[in-house]
Amino acid sequence: MTDTITIRTPDDWHLHLRDGAMLRAVAPETARHFARAIIMPNLVPPVVTGAEAAAYRERIMAALPEGSGFTPLMTLYLTEDTDPTDLAQAHADGLITAVKLYPAGATTNSASGVANFDKVRPVLEKMAEIGCPLCVHCEVVDSDIDIFDREAVFIERVLDPIRRATPGLRVVMEHITTMQGVEYASEGGPELGATITTHHLVINRNHILAGGIKPHYYCLPVAKREEHRLALRRAATSGDPTFFLGTDSAPHTDANKLLPCGCAGCFTATNTMSILAEVFEQEGALDRLESFTSLNGPKFYGLAANESTITLIKGDPVAYPDLIETGDGSVTVFDPMMPLHWKVAR
Ligand code: DOR
Ligand code: ZN
Repeated sequence: MTDTITIRTPDDWHLHLRDGAMLRAVAPETARHFARAIIMPNLVPPVVTGAEAAAYRERIMAALPEGSGFTPLMTLYLTEDTDPTDLAQAHADGLITAVKLYPAGATTNSASGVANFDKVRPVLEKMAEIGCPLCVHCEVVDSDIDIFDREAVFIERVLDPIRRATPGLRVVMEHITTMQGVEYASEGGPELGATITTHHLVINRNHILAGGIKPHYYCLPVAKREEHRLALRRAATSGDPTFFLGTDSAPHTDANKLLPCGCAGCFTATNTMSILAEVFEQEGALDRLESFTSLNGPKFYGLAANESTITLIKGDPVAYPDLIETGDGSVTVFDPMMPLHWKVAR
């Protein structure tokens, strides 16, 4: 029986670190196990210019523990006013790795996102020209579309037309949650990638809604039926280079989660690697964990895999905190509802 695995140090290709006291509390949780992460720009106000990305990067570096080798890879928040020349300059200066597209109103702090996709066409064309990847929150926001169908409808109505209209644009479908997402991504060729979160490999919609409402399992895109979770597990554990880890670890204080209108987001930074090892072992795919967490993402982004390694050791159930304290209040750590046996030993 395998009880130790050593893999290249993982990267997180979709992460929310926030700012201020929350940033200082959550950044070390990711930096403990991960070498790099794509940092989401949905602050209030959002990160829209290269200068803002550079300033945010400095705040992240200041929040890291002494001696941490963690590298934040910055993104810009695409708005209908984003200037293609400014964006190209920020990319050429190495200030940003990617750009994030939020459909306006789709999720937390997405009010400045895109409502009219025609307005961002020149920016997308410039991104295709310079090779800057677009990270897409794949959900329509139309009130007549059922929330469980938002991803599938977005692929058909928005994503596919954008990709056809913009040859060469490199796109990451962020946090896919459906078999339609898996299918579209796997047929999209080398210019299309897809991130999968840790929590969407573990929960389906019953976990949120059956036997009482569980706000800590509420995130966006919302978890779907079991058949979709199983499709995500097959994709993540397949070794297909299209699919890589983006945790979408999204801390909100418990006070903000446990409200009549609670915030969307699962905080998984603390126990993600232990959960993933458990999931991959359940799927008989421990030998493909490294592809998902450490190899496929860098390959898509045109970066080298990390030289360093981490070792996971199997043993008694791993202890991790139920919550972490931040200067803004407590944040509950994602509960995978199963004992975790794989401990990260650096
Ligand atoms: O659950 C989510 N939380 N989904 C998102 O798209 C945004 C994120 C957040 O920023 O809290
Ligand atoms: Zn996110």
